[in-house]
Amino acid sequence: MNRRELIKKYLEFFESKGHKIIPSASLVPENDPTVLFTTAGMHPLVPYLLGMKHPLGKRIANVQKCIRTTDIDEVGDSTHHTFFEMLGNWSMGDYFKKEAIEWSFEFLTKVLKIPVERLSVTCFAGDENAPKDEEAAKIWLSLGIPKPRIAFLPKKDNWWGPAGKTGPCGPDTEMFYWKSKEKPPKDFDTENKNWVEIWNDVLMQYVKNEKGEYVEAKQKNVDTGMGVERTVAVLNGLDDNYLSDLWRPIIKEIEKLIQKDVENAVLRALDGSDKYGGNKQTTKAMRIIADHIKAAVFIISDGVSPSNTERGYILRRLIRRAIRYGKELGLKNFTREIAEPVFEIYEKDYSELKNNKNKILESIDLEEKRFLETIEKGMRIFENLVKNKKSLSGKEAFLLYQSYGFPIELVEEECGNRKINFNKNEFLQELKKHQELSRTATKGKFAAGLADHSEQSTKYHTATHMLHKALKIVLGSEVQQMGSNITPERLRFDFRYDKKLSEEQIKKVESIVNEQIKRGLNVSYEEMPYADAVKSGALSYFRERYPPIVKVYTVGNFSKEICTGPHVANTKDMGKFKIIKEESVAQGVRRIKGVLH
Ligand code: ALA
Repeated sequence: MNRRELIKKYLEFFESKGHKIIPSASLVPENDPTVLFTTAGMHPLVPYLLGMKHPLGKRIANVQKCIRTTDIDEVGDSTHHTFFEMLGNWSMGDYFKKEAIEWSFEFLTKVLKIPVERLSVTCFAGDENAPKDEEAAKIWLSLGIPKPRIAFLPKKDNWWGPAGKTGPCGPDTEMFYWKSKEKPPKDFDTENKNWVEIWNDVLMQYVKNEKGEYVEAKQKNVDTGMGVERTVAVLNGLDDNYLSDLWRPIIKEIEKLIQKDVENAVLRALDGSDKYGGNKQTTKAMRIIADHIKAAVFIISDGVSPSNTERGYILRRLIRRAIRYGKELGLKNFTREIAEPVFEIYEKDYSELKNNKNKILESIDLEEKRFLETIEKGMRIFENLVKNKKSLSGKEAFLLYQSYGFPIELVEEECGNRKINFNKNEFLQELKKHQELSRTATKGKFAAGLADHSEQSTKYHTATHMLHKALKIVLGSEVQQMGSNITPERLRFDFRYDKKLSEEQIKKVESIVNEQIKRGLNVSYEEMPYADAVKSGALSYFRERYPPIVKVYTVGNFSKEICTGPHVANTKDMGKFKIIKEESVAQGVRRIKGVLH
């Protein structure tokens, strides 16, 4: 069974159980400033899991693209990935444990035709937050999973969520598949690596709050997640995810390049064979390159560009790490070619790949060129620093790393090659010092709010909220604030949207803002916990890290947004709003400049 078949079967199955299928949300989370990427299928559904009504009802299913970077150092083995797809079905205050487990069992045994002998499950062992889940175990027993195949495990294994710092979570029950060709043992030994987790049913009855407490949720939900990569691999009897159709074309492309570029390539030709890489080291490098470039393609397709902060930094790190491993294989100027097969695999299912193909390839290529320049420049500085010397201090290494973007692994490698002493601990201390400083600066930024509190800037600040709302009305809810900047002369507003605005749309936005200004709307604010603010529908600027208690500003009934202020008390004296410029600043990001006069 290949990837597309598995996805189709899953979605059809849950459709037949009354679920509505929704498209995958963006990898850039819309409502959760505590994480950089969407990490699970439930993540975009958090407001609904917390009680908001979903327009399509209480039963939802989909396949969601996800990025998880917590395990980035594990990537290179046969099962870890930074980008992956997750199948999921959700009950938002509708069915609970019984149906969730019964349907999981039915899908695994009837649709995927997995013999019961190859299945094991885990349930929550219980602790001070929630009782032992005997109920789940009973349901599994009634379906035919024998007692020795049911394990009870503590919170660290059988509890899921929240996805960010706060939010819905709960005990879970996980399903494992016996992947070995050998007969499965009677008892379920959770340490035996032949048992692979393929699906997780989270029984969400709790919400973790800002204080770290687990409070009973208003509604009981089900959140499930099945990893597509793993499931396809085990269903095909593959010991290595990278041998499945989700990876094969990328691995093949790497092989092709290696054999072209490297004399006496150590690799076997792969067509038809089921091995790749000549030894452990090359296999690992190939997996890392394939993984990171795939993740980079998807991240860029959701509007992120390589940079030195937040999402852009993760993206940059993924691409640069792939390049470093490419270097081990003798590859240079190769990332663009490795990215091509990613489109082959996924573009039918993700129009954001197909529609932005050239831009994505160019962005990756450009980043590789930049990195090569960085390394060249860094090497020259490195040479100067170590000239006639036997050691490199941590401070010097930090200078290379911080000011020239020179990877610390390369510093180590070069020092090793030349028998130069390098004090890594001192470097790490410098790094820590720097990180602490920048964290303090970020906090300061939020507390300070607007740098300039002049009367005119205050008007522009209120106008920015009104523009944000008007753009959502005219262009749709996918409009997402990416940045804003205010001077006493104008406002500037960056947002995610992938087309140029028409004259007509611009006029419409202006006239909505002006109509509201003329109505003389009162502007006021209320303080509340961040989660309540989001629940109330207040817009947020997702790049910002909000403190636990936020101010929510409302402009009449028109706009509601989380913000530090200040704002005008009433819109009547703001003047007339006009858009003076509308342009693209990055792929999928538009910039508007507007004035009040
Ligand atoms: N949200 C759950 C997970 O990621 C289903 O495993």
